[in-house]
Amino acid sequence: MSRRGDPHRVSRSATDMRIDILTIFPEMFRGPFDYGIVRRARERGLVEIVVHDLRTFAMDKHRTVDDRPFGGGEGMVFKPEPIFRAVESLVGEQFDRERVAVILLTPQGRVFTQAMAEQLAARERLILICGRYEGVDERVAEHLATHELSIGDYVLTGGEIPAMVIVEAIVRLLPGALHRAESARRESFAEGGILDYPQYTRPADFRGLRVPEVLLSGHHAEIARWRRRMALAKTLRNRPDLLEKAVLSEEDRRLLEDLQGALPKTSESR
Ligand code: ADE
Repeated sequence: MSRRGDPHRVSRSATDMRIDILTIFPEMFRGPFDYGIVRRARERGLVEIVVHDLRTFAMDKHRTVDDRPFGGGEGMVFKPEPIFRAVESLVGEQFDRERVAVILLTPQGRVFTQAMAEQLAARERLILICGRYEGVDERVAEHLATHELSIGDYVLTGGEIPAMVIVEAIVRLLPGALHRAESARRESFAEGGILDYPQYTRPADFRGLRVPEVLLSGHHAEIARWRRRMALAKTLRNRPDLLEKAVLSEEDRRLLEDLQGALPKTSESR
């Protein structure tokens, strides 16, 4: 589709974003950005995503991007030159670190959160560097990247899937990416920092499992109270750590005390 011809396209503005991804497996990115909200955002010209093969920035004819670690040890480490060259070819040596984020994905990074997604969604340009093997020469984290991020406390084989996760989390926040109905929906971490309430749809009775009666009652205030209580209960059970920073009303605190009294002793009760 022609971007100019799209009636949904918002006028070019500071919100438009370009994302470059540096990887030795560019083929892995076929598909994930071609569906749903990310596809729509690309078609509307809200974001342009370009995937680069890191090997094209290698210095030698064998297109070498890795080498053995100084000090010994198993495996291979990504060399700094191809990564510095790639970033410099995209944004120059002296890029504006307020407008451009250069994000290195490694398990050693700070853990990516919704709050970070919101901050990064305000940048004009993101460059994501997907690490591989046993690591990336530390000079990339120290002297090139603006952020070193992990998507969680587990080790994947590389930064490709983390890059996809981060792109999706950010792109859906770009103004115009979500339909009104989608963005109006309340979400985990957007409602005072607690988890989302449970949702149900038809049938009201599925194999004898009934939808909570209050949701069928049409009493909006009661439904809102029930949802808040369930959201608090779910957070207390699955993510009690979130409650320390959550914005809670007096009523929430009373509900929580109630729920804590009703909670089984172990947190892994299911
Ligand atoms: N590379 C390998 N594991 C990772 C993780 N959990 N987050 C980001 N990059 C990674």
